[in-house]
Amino acid sequence: MRLSRLFGGGKPDEPQRPEDPQQSEVDAVADNGANDGAEYEGVPEGDPDVDLDQQWRARAADVIPGGASTGSKRPAALYGEGSTFGPTHYTRASGCHITTAGGRTLIDCSMALGSVAIGYADETVTRAVLNAAALGNVCGLSHTSEVDVADRLCDMIPCAEQVRFLKSGAEAVSAAVRIARAYTGKSKIVGSGYFGWHDWANDGRGIPAGTRADVLRVPFDDIAALETACVQAGSDLAAILLEPVVEKLPSPEWLQAARKLCDAQGAVLVFDEMKTGFRLRPGGYQEYGSFEPDLATFGKAMANGFPIAAVVGRAAVMEAAAETWISSTLAGEATALAAITGVLEWHEKTDVCDALWRTGEEMIGAIKRAIAASGAEGVSVEGIAPMWFLRFDSSERESRFLELALEQDVLFKRGAYNYAALAHDEQTLIDIEHAASSAFVQLVEEMQG
Ligand SMILES: Cc1ncc(COP(=O)(O)O)c(C=O)c1O
Repeated sequence: MRLSRLFGGGKPDEPQRPEDPQQSEVDAVADNGANDGAEYEGVPEGDPDVDLDQQWRARAADVIPGGASTGSKRPAALYGEGSTFGPTHYTRASGCHITTAGGRTLIDCSMALGSVAIGYADETVTRAVLNAAALGNVCGLSHTSEVDVADRLCDMIPCAEQVRFLKSGAEAVSAAVRIARAYTGKSKIVGSGYFGWHDWANDGRGIPAGTRADVLRVPFDDIAALETACVQAGSDLAAILLEPVVEKLPSPEWLQAARKLCDAQGAVLVFDEMKTGFRLRPGGYQEYGSFEPDLATFGKAMANGFPIAAVVGRAAVMEAAAETWISSTLAGEATALAAITGVLEWHEKTDVCDALWRTGEEMIGAIKRAIAASGAEGVSVEGIAPMWFLRFDSSERESRFLELALEQDVLFKRGAYNYAALAHDEQTLIDIEHAASSAFVQLVEEMQG
């Protein structure tokens, strides 16, 4: 099957796929790997089967500790500790729709933890990925696309003069910290935000206390705490590492204080733009807020769900990456780089980020109307338009709301952001409002009864 058939020929306003002499190889991959609708291998046919969803949850619990390799996709994270409802596995995702293991179709508001801003299985991105796979994903040399994509990121991201690619967000942030330490010859990090699962960014079982000894944590947008931590770090401060948006936009004063402290103490200012990159603006918060750090990390929406992340920054600082050891076998593999080129095509042809803001505003409006109409209390909508969340004052009620929304075929994220995507079209927004209304009305009735 030719790719044009696989994707229904594409829409007239979409960029044309470049002529490719190796097309027959791409078509062969498409023939083997995919076809339309229910014919997909592994997608169940027939009526939805809730028992089948439960069987997959049980199978996963047996073979995968916690039930999922991604912490935020464990059943306990999806629906609440001890919960037994809700699908946990899928067989197909397309646009903003999920087909569960049991064959149910859901609208997804969580969008793969913000890693997908266009839509699942997007034609432009998938074509680029299939093409790259067919042409040889890796070999003993680096692919030319590594250089091309790095160049294009430098054109789009304000602080970017050089780029290093890695596979996950945690890896990219670790690389940024390593570069900052190599550049300054100092050790201490003052950090605010979530940076991933690695040792220095977490505490808990299995993490030696010593790994955090050089990391001082400060709350978001708190100037006094930032100043105190920097005094504590003293002449050994290597970097201030900030997630620039946590629930709300930062105050300019907080960022200015961070810049001043870095300059005064010879440290590097790093923004972790994992969630904000290619979402608030292509260049992340630094573009949106016109405030440049020295280094920044990107991932998630940059590749619309494919595994790649990047640390970018001023050349003078980035050069230190060549003086230390930062390496990952598959860092420059071609399929995820191709996914970035697919995303960049989208950003070239349309203002993706503007659309995400507008869609997010409509989502928030819909949920607020649903809350108000039902008279539900103890719940609010927080965040900013492209990344918003429901804050419940009771985790039991939150779980029950999620269960009721699922009965209306909508998946909301528990305790974390829901993300707008281009795939959330007008009808989807109507369906989301209907599901939320119905769930809140029922929740209120149960609370009163
Ligand atoms: C701001 C931020 N940094 C780093 C990470 C870690 O990324 P990953 O889960 O890809 O390692 C995340 C993930 O949610 C994030 O939101």
